[in-house]
Amino acid sequence: MDYGFDIRALIDKALVAQKAAYVPYSGFRVGAALLTEDDKTYTGCNIENAAYSPTNCAERTAFFKAVSEGERAFKAIAVTGGEKNDKGVYCSPCGVCRQVMLEFCNPDTFLVILANSTDDYKVFKLAELIPYAFRKTNLNTSK
Ligand code: THU
Repeated sequence: MDYGFDIRALIDKALVAQKAAYVPYSGFRVGAALLTEDDKTYTGCNIENAAYSPTNCAERTAFFKAVSEGERAFKAIAVTGGEKNDKGVYCSPCGVCRQVMLEFCNPDTFLVILANSTDDYKVFKLAELIPYAFRKTNLNTSK
């Protein structure tokens, strides 16, 4: 299936980013590669903390890097995580990361690619991963 960009190249970038994961507590490495509307890529890894709750997931690292550089429009994110997953079993974004994606992305077009390798991946629309979500439109009942 042609999505208009190179899915395998994006997965490769997530796999490289995964290597930088700072995970002294869980040992669970996650990588992400976020593709902007104009085809730039921002990568991220998970960054853990001794106090646990300050931990930042790989997906949010990628989003926050991109948004802090002025990016606002995105096509897709590839996520890789875990060292030896079975084929078809993927690291899937947590609820907080799904909510962050929703802040900046159209859920009907933004693609979330869950991957173990360039030939073991599954593509979702964000809407499938966060149905009936709380959105900015909920904040203004007159809209
Ligand atoms: N984690 C991510 O970075 N992304 C996910 O999609 C799921 C979980 C991280 C958080 C924590 O550092 C480790 O994986 C175990 O939960």
